[in-house]
Amino acid sequence: DSAKPLRGRKVLVTAGPTHEPIDPVRYIANRSSGKQGYAIADALAELGADVTLISGPTRLDASQNVTLRAVESAQEMLVACEETLPVDAAVFAAAVADWRVNNEASQKIKKQAGALPDLSLTENPDILATISGSVSNRPALVVGFAAETENIVENGKAKLDKKGCDWIVANDVSASTGTFGGEENQVFLLKGASTESWPKQTKQGVARTLGAHISDFFQSKST
Ligand code: C5P
Repeated sequence: DSAKPLRGRKVLVTAGPTHEPIDPVRYIANRSSGKQGYAIADALAELGADVTLISGPTRLDASQNVTLRAVESAQEMLVACEETLPVDAAVFAAAVADWRVNNEASQKIKKQAGALPDLSLTENPDILATISGSVSNRPALVVGFAAETENIVENGKAKLDKKGCDWIVANDVSASTGTFGGEENQVFLLKGASTESWPKQTKQGVARTLGAHISDFFQSKST
C-alpha cells in the first residue's frame, strides 16, 4: 500500500517536557512545547503506523489515530517506553529533564523566614541511550534529537555515538531561531557519516520529511 507504507509497523514517539516534582505542588520543568513530537506522531500515523505517543505535560491534543500515554517525570517516561516495547521504530523528541530532585517532599514545603529548602538533585535516566542499548528489545530504528546552540552538526554526530542511536535530527535552538515553542524548525538529519540539511519549514513539514525517511528505511529493509 503506497499511501500507507508504515502499515503494520509499531512506533513509539516521545514528546514534550518532563516535570520533576519538588513536592506535591511544585516541579522543575523546561520550555518544550511538544509540537515537534506531536507532529511526528501524527505524520507516522498518517503513513499507517500504529503509534504510541508518550508525552510529558503539554497544551496539545493528540490526534485520534494516535495512542497517547501521558506521563509527568523522566522516570515515568522511561517505564512507559519500556512497557511499549517491542516496536519497529522509536523517535525520541521529548526534552527530558536532565535532573530530578532526589529528596522529593511528601507534603508541601512550608516557607519559613530566613530558611531555604535544601533541594538535592540527581541525574535522570537517559531514555534514548537506555532504549538504544536494549539488548533483547532494541527497535530496528532509533532516532534521537539534538538541540544545539552551536556546532550543530559536529555536536549532533557526537551524540549519535554517545547515545547509540541510528539517526539524529539536529536543530539550532539558539534564541534567535525561535524554534522552542515556535512553528518552524531548521534541522539536519544525521545518519552515520551522512548529513542532510533540510530547508527551514514548519514542524509538520519536518515531521512529514522524517516520516518519508522512516518509510524508506523499512521499505529498503524488506526488499
Ligand atoms: O543529551 P541530550 O538531552 O542533548 O540528548 C537529546 C536526545 O536524547 C533527545 O532525543 C532526547 O529525547 C533524548 N533524551 C532522553 N532522555 C534523557 C535525555 C535526553 O531520551 N534523559
